Parts: sequence; structure tokens; C-alpha cells
Amino acid sequence: MAQVVLENVYKSFPTRHNERVTPVVAHSSPLAPLDSPSMVERNSREHKQSISVLHDISLSVADGEFMVLVGPSGCGKSTLLRLIAGLEKISGGNIWVGDRLVNELPPKARDIAMVFQNYALYPHMTVYDNLAFGLRRTMRGEGRGVRGEGKNRSLDNLLVGVTRGLPKQLRYTTARERAVDERVRNVAQLLQIEALLNRLPKQLSGGQKQRVALGRAIARNPQVFLMDEPLSNLDAKLRAETRAQIVKLQRQLGTTTVYVTHDQTEAMTMGDRIAVMNQGQIQQVAPPLELYNRPATRFVAEFIGSPPMNFLPVQFHTPLSIAHPQFHFSLPEQWANVLQNYNRQTLILGIRPEHFYLSTPAPQNLLVQVDLVEALGNDTYLAVSFVKQGVQPSVIATTATNTLQVRIPPDRKVAVGEQLWLSLSLDKLHFFEYDSGQAIWFE
Ligand SMILES: Nc1ncnc2c1ncn2[C@@H]1O[C@H](COP(=O)(O)OP(=O)(O)OP(=O)(O)O)[C@@H](O)[C@H]1O
Ligand SMILES: [Mg+2]
Repeated sequence: MAQVVLENVYKSFPTRHNERVTPVVAHSSPLAPLDSPSMVERNSREHKQSISVLHDISLSVADGEFMVLVGPSGCGKSTLLRLIAGLEKISGGNIWVGDRLVNELPPKARDIAMVFQNYALYPHMTVYDNLAFGLRRTMRGEGRGVRGEGKNRSLDNLLVGVTRGLPKQLRYTTARERAVDERVRNVAQLLQIEALLNRLPKQLSGGQKQRVALGRAIARNPQVFLMDEPLSNLDAKLRAETRAQIVKLQRQLGTTTVYVTHDQTEAMTMGDRIAVMNQGQIQQVAPPLELYNRPATRFVAEFIGSPPMNFLPVQFHTPLSIAHPQFHFSLPEQWANVLQNYNRQTLILGIRPEHFYLSTPAPQNLLVQVDLVEALGNDTYLAVSFVKQGVQPSVIATTATNTLQVRIPPDRKVAVGEQLWLSLSLDKLHFFEYDSGQAIWFE
């Protein structure tokens, strides 16, 4: 097993001839316009434009750790995995696997197994041969772990040839083939696919194919697993089952794993830690609950949690007052220090749907009207909007939407159009700088 360390990794792709540069990435401000010219790098040596896809990625995955990479589509997750696997060349920085610098090593020398979203099974091979194929190659390449390998190769070949026509039990098998067989059967048992070994991929369900793809990676007993959205083709039930199975297997095997998903439930439930990516950069790396409780940026706050956090522009006044056109209140004392430099400034107040409570009329509460009711059985979510009240202090040039997502107890019946008073959980508030989106936290 091994740790994986990425040091200041960059990746750019050259643009094709006549290709319009669609900038992808790399600006420190989450609110920066997407077409900022700084995003397009010029490759000075070849005088060609290139698109920067990954920007200064540093990440350390500990030996045996389950690291999840999450982020929206196109943020560079797959590219990062492919760089670690050696399927793409890095444009800058270093990648270490264990104590080896692997920048220049070809994929097969990196001792890494990758599971792709689309399984990539060989359609003409049985499950057994799919599991055995990579293993045979690995063992041949390394000549590892098989006693007698090499010495008697010509005798082996002769015996295999002579007995080929005999019934299976009587055929001669080489030492390497016996080792392959043992490993294939162990892995099949582990993943409960022993009964499927003689089938072709087209005779398997999506979930079974998925397990075979996983099995193929496991059989090779690599130092590192890389998994790129391996569950995205499964239905919800199978997805939850396979998710639990992967986590259990990873714990059992203790193999360092980097797992890509854009499903935040998967991220929260599987990872020891999660790295949240946006536009080719890592925004925060932390254990799941830390991301939920203390997101470092507005982007992370919005990405982790479902439905996402609500954001409202408010004005702060020292010592501790918060004003919004529709409500105003005093903050708990612990905010005094960290907010003192923001007097009279607009901040973004963040509040999760689960941190509103049904309440009574009061200046610190929000009067809202219900626009939509989503009763899921175990929870009820409401989309609500502010009810305009008499005085409208023009303290804020508000660009934010006035729709909020709110969770209420499932046994409370609510109708569309109904007006409600909501209170905020004062110990669950988040604040972000208006321009940079950086979170403001007290110690
Ligand atoms: N070979 C390539 N040449 C040019 N651009 C590429 C290449 N491969 C990826 N990209 C670009 O790099 C960006 C990141 O792609 P990547 O596949 O890593 O995203 P992702 O985070 O895995 O997205 P998804 O969640 O949709 O799979 C995208 O904008 C994509 O268009
Ligand atoms: Mg991808």
C-alpha cells in the first residue's frame, strides 16, 4: 500500500487548430467571470494557446485512506485521476506513489488499478477471463509471486499444447495459471460473483458488471485504486448497496483509494476525507462533517448539503447586528471579534434548509410565503419567498434570489400560498465575504 502525493500539479491541453478557446479554469475568486482572459494560458515555447484544466493541485492521500474527489461536471476530476494513473502527462508539478516519483512512469509501472464509469469489460471474454486478463499480464510483466516461472517455460508450453484437447480437469496448467486461478476465485468470492464466472458481460446486469469491473481492479492487488464514478449507471437501490460494498472492501483491503463522484451523498458517506474541486482547483479538503459544518468557501457550502445552503446578502453593523430588508437580529457574542472589520459591509449570510424553524411574528424572524411543497415522507421541503412588508430599508443592492429552501417536520401540513414565520438557528449561521466568497469563522 502507499500514499499518493500531488505537488503543485498543473494540466493544460493544447487547443486544436482553429478551435475557439473555451476557458475552463483557474481563478482564485469563485465569483470571477468565466471568460476572464487570465484563464487562457499561452504556451510561450510553441506559441500555441492552451486550455488550463488543472491549476496548482496539491493533495496528500494517506496510506490506506479513502479520498473522494467531488465537484461539478467539467471541473477536472477525471483528468486528475488520469494524471495519477499515467493515462495523461502532467504539464507541471509532481506525483508521488509511495516513495516513487511517477511523473515519467508509464501506467503499468505505477501499480495502480483504475475502475471506469463505463466498466470497460472485454465483451467477448467470460467474467473469469475478464478478471484473469489483467492479472496474467501483471504477473507476466513482473514475474511476481509464482515459483518456477520462467525456468520450465518450454516444458510448460509443450505440456499445455499436448493436453489442450483433453477434458478440462486433465489439462496441464502452468504455475502462473494456477496462481491466477486462485486469485480470480478469491476475488469472485469476495464480491459474490462466483456463480457468474462463465458468463459473458452481455449476460450480466449493470450491478453485476460493476462488480466484475471492481473485481478486475481488486484482483491485481495494486497499491492504489482509482475509481471514476463507478456507480453512476446503477439504480438508486443498487447504488446504495454497491456503495456500502465498496467501502467495506476498501476497509478490508486497506488499499489507498481515490474515488471520483459528483454525487454528494456518495462523497459524504464513503470518504475518510473529501476534496471539493471547482474549475480545476481544490477548494477544500476535509472530513465529510467538517465540510458540512465549516465550509471554507461559498462554493463548498453550496455543493455539500442537499438541498443546498441558502444565501442572503445582509449588512453587518458593529458590534453585532445584522440587517436585511425583511428582518434584523443580533448575533451571538462569539462573532464580535472576527466580524469587527466588516462594519457597514455587505456579507453573505448562509443558512441551511434544516436550520430554519417554524416560528411566530417577530422582527428577527422571516415572513415567507410557500411557493412549493415537496413532501418526501421522512422530510418535507418547502420553496418559499419573502412576503414584502411595509418598510423596506434600502441597505442592500440585492442581486440574490429571494427564494429559500426550508425543511420542516413531515407531520406539519402546509399548503402552497400559506404564509409562515420562520426563525433562524443562531448557532448555525454561516458568513461569507461578498466578493471573494471566503467563509468568515470564529475560532
Ligand atoms: N483531451 C482533452 N483535450 C482538451 N480538453 C479536455 C481534454 N480532456 C478533458 N478536457 C477538458 O477538461 C475539463 C475537465 O474535464 P474532466 O473530464 O476532467 O471533468 P470532470 O470533472 O471529470 O467532469 P464530469 O463530472 O463531467 O465527468 C473539461 O472542460 C474538458 O472539456
Ligand atoms: Mg469525469
